[in-house]
Amino acid sequence: MRARLPHLPWKRLLAGGAAAFLLLAGLVVGAGAWIYSQAVTSNVGDLDFANELAIPPLAETTVAPDGTKEVDLRFTAGQTHLVDDGPSETWGLNGSYLGPTIRAARGERVRVNVTNGVDETTTLHWHGMHLPARMDGGPHQMVEPGATWSPSWTIDQPAATLWYHPHLHGATADHVYRGAAGMFLVDDPANAPDLPDSYGVDDVPLIVQDKSFDGDGDLDTGGRPFSSVGILGDTIVVNGTVNPHLDVTTEKVRLRVLNASNARIYDLGFPDGRVFWQVASDAGLLAQPHRTDRVQLSPGERAEIVVEMAPGDEAVLRSFPPDLGVGFTDRFAGGDDTFDILQLRAAAELAPSPPMPGELATIDAPDPGDAETTRTFRLSGTRINGEKMDMGRVDEVVTAGATEIWEVTNRGGEPHSFHPHLVHFSVLDVDGEPPPPELAGWKDTIYVPPDTTIRFIARFDGQADPTTPYMFHCHVLRHEDRGMMGQFVVVEPGDEPDLSSTRGDPGHDH
Ligand code: C2O
Ligand code: CU
Repeated sequence: MRARLPHLPWKRLLAGGAAAFLLLAGLVVGAGAWIYSQAVTSNVGDLDFANELAIPPLAETTVAPDGTKEVDLRFTAGQTHLVDDGPSETWGLNGSYLGPTIRAARGERVRVNVTNGVDETTTLHWHGMHLPARMDGGPHQMVEPGATWSPSWTIDQPAATLWYHPHLHGATADHVYRGAAGMFLVDDPANAPDLPDSYGVDDVPLIVQDKSFDGDGDLDTGGRPFSSVGILGDTIVVNGTVNPHLDVTTEKVRLRVLNASNARIYDLGFPDGRVFWQVASDAGLLAQPHRTDRVQLSPGERAEIVVEMAPGDEAVLRSFPPDLGVGFTDRFAGGDDTFDILQLRAAAELAPSPPMPGELATIDAPDPGDAETTRTFRLSGTRINGEKMDMGRVDEVVTAGATEIWEVTNRGGEPHSFHPHLVHFSVLDVDGEPPPPELAGWKDTIYVPPDTTIRFIARFDGQADPTTPYMFHCHVLRHEDRGMMGQFVVVEPGDEPDLSSTRGDPGHDH
């Protein structure tokens, strides 16, 4: 005979189960709240700005017999003392961290001899440059260890603060994070308003990056929970300097700010509330100076600002919590973070600076009535129009010389941006509204908040090349590496693209 089942105290078991469930739920909520509360970073109050800001040297140039300006850039691995804890393993160009500032004028022919002195294949891309696809330095123009790639082109675009960085497919975030990047300034002597322009004195490049370090000074590459954007560091490095100050010796100082970070978005201003002028966006001067107290930059974007100082004045350039438009989860993408970036220290006597010009540039944006094509791009997850990057697939075929409207929509809950190679563009509207002043000049990279549609217009002039694509992509580097990128080819009317000769082939071009 079977033993009788023991009488089970169901009610007590149920009550116990409910208690355990509540306890577990409480733990989950508590852990969530803890993680949420930890997801805010700030360095405000931690800095004494003891270090003098490093200024990237101007690249040495030589002039070839045909008048071409030549620059040598060598990828270099080394150890850099970024923080006091110890040296970091880094990459740079012609040095162990970052690279020299290249400077060339509109109309000038340039050649850059890019030598890969590190032990990984990489590329070097000229972000914002209008140039033939084979010279672009995108994922197809791979430079193997020991090889030299020598693109050359004629500068043909308005004065602007451009930059260069690696673009190896799948490894861009890593290569940029290690420090391989630099500025490329385009001058246009025929259209040069009277702005501060002594390099490193009153015209100062600021390459702004956020880093995380382990206790020994090595770069830490961990991301944040609940966010796909990747690295969000707790230490700000400007031109390779932590805790930096800049000695200002003139009444006005022009800061060319580049967000060279992997994922972080900055909203720059001053805690004393001072207003300044924004004079340029990514790809050129604004039509008029824009008086403002904030400028927001997503990765890859640039702004030139002019700040007025009084003798003996001190001012801190700070990044306030940026408006990412992601809602509650903004925080996990850095949306609640505050960072002091740089202290400006004015001398007791300041040299006079020119008055701010009323007009800066004529922006001859194409007329929407001339657009032959409108293309739509849907950003979601790490895909564009549902596709992940395939180096052998052509996503868009553009006719050389065409004027086109590109309509970009963020359909996911994450921060994304959009950057087409080759062209600079003019924003037509943001969710149907005309662009605000800071987005009304030439751009090449733009933040696209969730559930937002941005339309821009661009002229795809330049050399057709059916065999080599240009890229368009999200400039959050982890997204880009994970495939949030597509390819367009510029062809003569009636031509077909043909990538068979270039697919995955290291582009040696001696
Ligand atoms: Cu700055 Cu395709 O990149
Ligand atoms: Cu993205």
